Amino acid sequence: MNAPAKTEDFVAPGAENKPAGIPDNVYAETVLAVEHYTDFLFRFRMTRPAGFRFRSGEFAMIGLMVGDKPIYRAYSIASPAWDEELEFFSIKVPDGPLTSHLQKIKPGDTVLMRKKPTGTLVLDALTPGKRLYMFSTGTGIAPFASLIRDPETYEKFDEVILTHTCREVAELKYGFDLMEEIRNHEFLSEIVGDKLKHYPTVTRDPSYPNQGRITDLIESGKLFTDLGVPPLDPATDRGMICGSTEMLKDTKALLEKAGLTEGANSQPAEFVIERAFVG
Ligand code: A2P
Repeated sequence: MNAPAKTEDFVAPGAENKPAGIPDNVYAETVLAVEHYTDFLFRFRMTRPAGFRFRSGEFAMIGLMVGDKPIYRAYSIASPAWDEELEFFSIKVPDGPLTSHLQKIKPGDTVLMRKKPTGTLVLDALTPGKRLYMFSTGTGIAPFASLIRDPETYEKFDEVILTHTCREVAELKYGFDLMEEIRNHEFLSEIVGDKLKHYPTVTRDPSYPNQGRITDLIESGKLFTDLGVPPLDPATDRGMICGSTEMLKDTKALLEKAGLTEGANSQPAEFVIERAFVG
């Protein structure tokens, strides 16, 4: 078992209730729930440290003690900024330095988190617009899981379109679960109303009707026809992109071709990309 030992016999002054061996400058949080979707995908929820603030869409460094050393990896926070708990959506890499261990966590285990969240997929990095596109592949949906559950997204945009492309249908389930959670949520369902559209597609599973890479669907115009919206327009449309390095590059090129410019926290513009995302 790779989780750190839960030795609480001796608690150093100021070390709160951290299990032994964990560095002082990180949070040590308790796993609350774990859900496995496929052999390669899972999500987990954990306690949120008192005083930990982040903006919906940001990422944090998540880690585990492996032996006597902490190992970290960047994870988008999938829960919204108002949530009392933190949620993460992860791949399982059989030999991955962190995910080979993280995929085995159970409720009650300890997960580490560095104290400072950061990221560019935030509403503040976009100039005002009418329609917000969130383009994701695979676990790139995670920051959008946060943003689509944040009321501020719907204060700023009339229409929010979440595209999610995976190889196979089973990998789309997290997105479908999110949509259902929002529909059934006491307050969010009213705030979101019919502003949020989910556009899932697959590329290696002929059993599903929605087929194709998002880049091909943008280029052919099928995305816009299917959604019943006009083609991309910098006057009204804003974008956020999260996926593999190649997907970021190709999607960015299409948004630029449509006249949108890339923004950042320091200089808001028409679309943003998460470069720190690790597939
Ligand atoms: P494809 O099956 O055609 O490669 P991955 O697991 O490799 O990151 O892929 C996740 C999804 O992203 C897959 O559906 C994959 O399609 C798609 N994808 C991979 N590369 C690109 C790209 N450059 N542009 C758009 N979609 C991509």
